[in-house]
Amino acid sequence: MRIFTSLLRNTNPKIEYYSRFSPSPLSIKQFLDFGRDNACEKTSYMFLRKELPVRLANTMREVNLLPDKLLSQPSVRLVQKWYMQMNLGIIIKIRNRHNDVVPTMAQGVIEYKEKFGFDPFISSNVQYFLDRFYTNRISFRMLINQHTLLFGNDTNPAHPKHIGSIDPTCSVAEVVSDAYDTAKMLCEKYYLAAPGLQIEEFNMKAPKKPIQAVYVPSHLFHMLFELFKNSMRATVELHENSSEGLPPVKAKVTLGKEDLSVKISDRGGGVPLRKIDRLFNYMYSTAPTPSLEPGAVPLAGFGYGLPISRLYARYFQGDLKLYSMEGVGTDAVIYLKALSSESFERLPVFNKSAWRHYKTSPEADDWSNPSKEPRDARLERMDDLD
Ligand SMILES: Nc1ncnc2c1ncn2[C@@H]1O[C@H](COP(=O)(O)OP(=O)(O)OP(=O)(O)O)[C@@H](O)[C@H]1O
Ligand SMILES: [Mg+2]
Repeated sequence: MRIFTSLLRNTNPKIEYYSRFSPSPLSIKQFLDFGRDNACEKTSYMFLRKELPVRLANTMREVNLLPDKLLSQPSVRLVQKWYMQMNLGIIIKIRNRHNDVVPTMAQGVIEYKEKFGFDPFISSNVQYFLDRFYTNRISFRMLINQHTLLFGNDTNPAHPKHIGSIDPTCSVAEVVSDAYDTAKMLCEKYYLAAPGLQIEEFNMKAPKKPIQAVYVPSHLFHMLFELFKNSMRATVELHENSSEGLPPVKAKVTLGKEDLSVKISDRGGGVPLRKIDRLFNYMYSTAPTPSLEPGAVPLAGFGYGLPISRLYARYFQGDLKLYSMEGVGTDAVIYLKALSSESFERLPVFNKSAWRHYKTSPEADDWSNPSKEPRDARLERMDDLD
């Protein structure tokens, strides 16, 4: 086992070479301008030929810093192998095979946890790594999609106004109601009921005008769909047996000078403050192992809905936050940059401070600790999500 992992760690010279360059983040405006001004396929190809290996290599250097015990899990090895095999010629063709990366990595984390239990040091490493790994993956798909949509044969006749995957006049409320409809279908399938939706808009820039974003609608849809699924599940489970019916989920879309925000509010009973952070933790949330039947779309699965949605929001300099009042309900807010010239990709860079993250143990807590409980009780408490 040791010999095998040390073989994997042997850095490949190409990865070594490309990881010396930093990724070049693009703004939505740059994606748009490039795609509009009679885009040149050769220029795009030349850019990708350097940029994709640079982004890939920066992430691969970090895979190699993961603890041996995690790296040796079969699923993690498999994902690593997929990434090692990539070269630009075949990247575009095999894009679809890589749809399995997220569930396969998740499986690796579960395998690890089942064998070795929960460890705060490993968990913080895994958190740090997966946030960067999945961000890299989002960016990879963004670049490849722009290229193939602009120059390939798979242009989308349903959306002639789109520049690649970007909608220059994306109606936010429309995406909200599409995401709601899709979540509602799932919710009704599982619970035979679903809460209603109320949408409200507040446009500071142009009052009474519908709010439009220059954005990737599929990203926005992804985030909203996850938030709606969560809100619906919480609402139905809390009010299932109440005679007053289900309180609706409310969506508020607002546009200011800097931020375009979307708030999803439910009356699903909320989450205590102590547990909010861990909802974004990959290692906590993998607690119940969902069955991976092909084609099954669970209403709640790996517990990756929130962390991945937050990565989508942060990818273009936005964020996703949860504000909850226990006993009542939850507000989830997606923040996006109002200006496409400020929506730069946020990309992981492999450097000394990234390296340090994997190598230094968490410091001892420098605030007082109210109770000195026995260690077992503490561990137990960390495990319960409900
Ligand atoms: N609006 C909400 N109200 C109450 N609890 C919530 C809400 N949103 C999230 N949660 C809690 O946070 C947990 C994690 O949410 P998350 O969406 O990340 O994963 P999940 O819903 O369990 O699985 P999936 O990966 O399918 O989304 C949920 O299981 C639920 O316990
Ligand atoms: Mg969810």
